Amino acid sequence: MKKIIIITGAGKGIGKAIALDFAKACLKPGDFNPVLVLVSRTLSELEDVAAECRSYGAETDTVQMDIADIKEVKGLVARTLERFGTIDCLVNNAGVGRFKPIAEITEEDFDYTMSVNLKGTFFLTQKVFSIMEKQQSGHIFFITSIAAEMAFKSSSVYSMSKFGQKGLVEALRLYARECCVKITNVMPGAVYTPMWGEVPDALKSFMMMPEDISGSIVSTYLLPARTTVEELVFRPVGGDINE
Ligand SMILES: NC(=O)c1ccc[n+]([C@@H]2O[C@H](COP(=O)([O-])OP(=O)(O)OC[C@H]3O[C@@H](n4cnc5c(N)ncnc54)[C@H](OP(=O)(O)O)[C@@H]3O)[C@@H](O)[C@H]2O)c1
Repeated sequence: MKKIIIITGAGKGIGKAIALDFAKACLKPGDFNPVLVLVSRTLSELEDVAAECRSYGAETDTVQMDIADIKEVKGLVARTLERFGTIDCLVNNAGVGRFKPIAEITEEDFDYTMSVNLKGTFFLTQKVFSIMEKQQSGHIFFITSIAAEMAFKSSSVYSMSKFGQKGLVEALRLYARECCVKITNVMPGAVYTPMWGEVPDALKSFMMMPEDISGSIVSTYLLPARTTVEELVFRPVGGDINE
């Protein structure tokens, strides 16, 4: 069955792994036929991921946009409806972090983090949820973080934004349960992605990889309509990286 799936931040890191695992699910027995709408600000990365997804048999669309811009968010939803008629799944994965001691956080760091992680995620969710509410089906994933419920010294503003995302998850679930829409909060600890920049080998060997997270997200999506997974928590086997 055709499923229209929007994945934000699909150009690299965790979002790319999620896109590839959705695409690979085409190869399994069954009638899962995903149309992957891949979103980020960097078109060349999206095009590379889209080509790999198509090699597994998935249909793709790429949308270069900034989720912090509400006009572009409206445009994404309108374009997806126009092209594909509906939205079955949204993976709210795009996110940014500025990691430094609290005294060094600037207004620009604050505004940038909040505009993407909170404002962008909120308004995209709001618009997609209203479609799912009407059709009485759908699934929204939020890639929040362990930092959505645990503080680390270098993550003050990031954590603030992720705690905020968790607040949205919990409020939205109250609406979603009334209209058969599934909400899954995905909370990973340290995953080795471009978000971390240069990472020493010793630390890298401790961290999870994006593909350790993505498979469970696809399995969760493919569960029968009667069942949902509300929370997925992933940690390096050695625990969190304390800072
Ligand atoms: N890596 C970890 O350890 C970890 C742990 C827990 C949770 N998370 C969360 O997982 C999610 C993905 O993180 P990641 O580590 O995979 O990060 P990443 O490697 O930096 O990738 C982030 C993706 O989001 C896109 N993006 C960022 N800002 C955007 C915007 N304003 N509009 C549209 N796309 C935007 C980026 O592309 P462009 O820059 O080209 O737009 C990129 O494709 C984030 O929400 C992050 O907070 C990560």
